[in-house]
Amino acid sequence: MRRKLVAGNWKMHGSLDFNAGLVGRLRDGIGEVACDVFVCPPFPYLAQLQQLLAGSEIGLGAQNASEQQQGAFTGEVSLAMLRDFGCRYVLLGHSERRTLYGESDALVAAKFEAALAAGLVPVLCVGETLAEREAGLTETVVFRQLRAVFERVSVKAMAAALLAYEPVWAIGTGVTATPVQAQAVHAAIRGFVGAGDAAVAEGVRILYGGSVKPQNAEELFGQPDIDGGLIGGAALVADDFLAICRAAN
Ligand code: G3H
Repeated sequence: MRRKLVAGNWKMHGSLDFNAGLVGRLRDGIGEVACDVFVCPPFPYLAQLQQLLAGSEIGLGAQNASEQQQGAFTGEVSLAMLRDFGCRYVLLGHSERRTLYGESDALVAAKFEAALAAGLVPVLCVGETLAEREAGLTETVVFRQLRAVFERVSVKAMAAALLAYEPVWAIGTGVTATPVQAQAVHAAIRGFVGAGDAAVAEGVRILYGGSVKPQNAEELFGQPDIDGGLIGGAALVADDFLAICRAAN
């Protein structure tokens, strides 16, 4: 039985005041939540969040990291730096990184390997665009993104990671994949991992992301291969995020 998990990706939102208010409300409501929860603020607020979340059940993650350990890489943030600020998780290969910032499958795979080596839990994000879905290429794309990672690490390594399926056409658009659509891809992803290691596939948690709201969370999380959510917009509204977390109970 996989324990459900809900993660909030704040993307490039927040301020010192906003974050304090949001975390205060999350801490007030987290007692009614039974699943694992973590939030990923922008880099400059990691130190603030480390303090705000001290002693709470809510974990801390980052939205990206460098595959490099240190050096002349202007603007980059290392995995060791994330650990210094209490991060346990790191999102990698989010579609906004892939599409807006040109991150290749190979780069994402290198980051994934580096995150495991640094002792963080990588959250490998995969997903197809609308054009790819309409061309019948959903599994081709998602499997390609997974295969790039398995060229660098063994399938067993996935036991220490999380997966997130995020159809690009459902992110921030208000259009959610139907539970049936999402379940089909989640099952395919689990099957792909299972071809390498059945036990790892059975244990790995696969989150769904893309316009998850309190209204649709319960049905999505009720699917057999959907183990929780990666939440964008609704993670910025305490009542909505908590309701989504409770839907995963
Ligand atoms: O990382 C989160 C996803 O991109 C989903 O974002 O919930 O705003 O659609 P969204």
